[in-house]
Amino acid sequence: MSAPEDLVKAATEQGRALILGAASVAELRALEGEAFGKRSQLAALTAGLRDQAAALRRELGRALQEARAELEQLFALRLAELGALESRLRAEAERLDLSEEALRFESASGPLATWAAPPAPRGHPHLVTQVRQELEDIFVSMGFEVMEGPEAEDDWHNFEALNMPPHHPARAMFDTFYLKTAKPESVLLRTHTSPVQVRLMESGAPPIYVVVPGRCFRRDTPDATHLPVFHQLEALVVDEGISMSHLAGTLDAFANAFFGPGRHARLRPSFFPFTEPSAEFDVTCWVCGGTGCRTCGNSGWVELGGCGMVDPAVFHAVGVDSERYTGFAWGFGIDRLAAARTGLADLRDLLDNDIRFLGQF
Ligand code: DAH
Repeated sequence: MSAPEDLVKAATEQGRALILGAASVAELRALEGEAFGKRSQLAALTAGLRDQAAALRRELGRALQEARAELEQLFALRLAELGALESRLRAEAERLDLSEEALRFESASGPLATWAAPPAPRGHPHLVTQVRQELEDIFVSMGFEVMEGPEAEDDWHNFEALNMPPHHPARAMFDTFYLKTAKPESVLLRTHTSPVQVRLMESGAPPIYVVVPGRCFRRDTPDATHLPVFHQLEALVVDEGISMSHLAGTLDAFANAFFGPGRHARLRPSFFPFTEPSAEFDVTCWVCGGTGCRTCGNSGWVELGGCGMVDPAVFHAVGVDSERYTGFAWGFGIDRLAAARTGLADLRDLLDNDIRFLGQF
């Protein structure tokens, strides 16, 4: 039989091995009893002390006490160690990696920093921006200039100069966001890009060949086909001898350039206060190519926007000689065009900023 001191040694060793082998706080706590508590070999040896001779009992008792103290200390150390490790791992898992943005910046001689993080994925322009840029390219190649105007407008540019005086019923077409200013309902978020027509003619003499992309705002509840913030592309051409056939031909060339060969535009009579005559323009259905399908209601055509010949009342408001000059204008939605081209069923997806969705385009 082993000497009692050897038994104490073996019991201590077993306790140590148990404590050091625990891989988590929970595991460590669970084996406390077995390592040096009630269920441990140390406890069994302590219980057996009463059978020993007095001198040996005292000596063994001290050795057992020391062993227990050592294991308690080791237990506390290991507990602190595992606790710190676990909270570090938890923090790591919940951490927002703010270095991702910094990693995108590069200097001429390469990345600014050389830390070991993996390169962040590169972004790209939003689908609507891509379509806007493509439209700009098409019209620049036709000889148009690209201009912009302010998003906060006054009543004159958004309505009045466009032949919509106060209380004109056509204003009801535009559910307008007004800004709080000293004079109520005098400053607003533009409801269309047409006010830029007024600005262009006020600030420069014809000839004018300009397209204007930009954000517009209406008090619409978002749904699959409406957004309260959307984008339009306006066009304005003013020169001597401009006729409706120039308008029709330009739109047809655009349909061809944007949607591909064999795609056309057609005009249907309509009404806008700032054009006379006015038309809606349709393009060949991008889904069926003109043979008729659900998207186009079997007509082969899809409505894209409004257009017409600039009304002489608008020329009068901005001081352009309507005897000498004529012009055409149009406006259509860029978001709808982007949705059409990608087969997108719900415009709201464009606003959700879900990388998994936007990354596809
Ligand atoms: N501004 C109109 C709208 O948002 C669209 C429009 C129609 C623009 C006819 C034009 C135009 O330039 O000539 O509903």
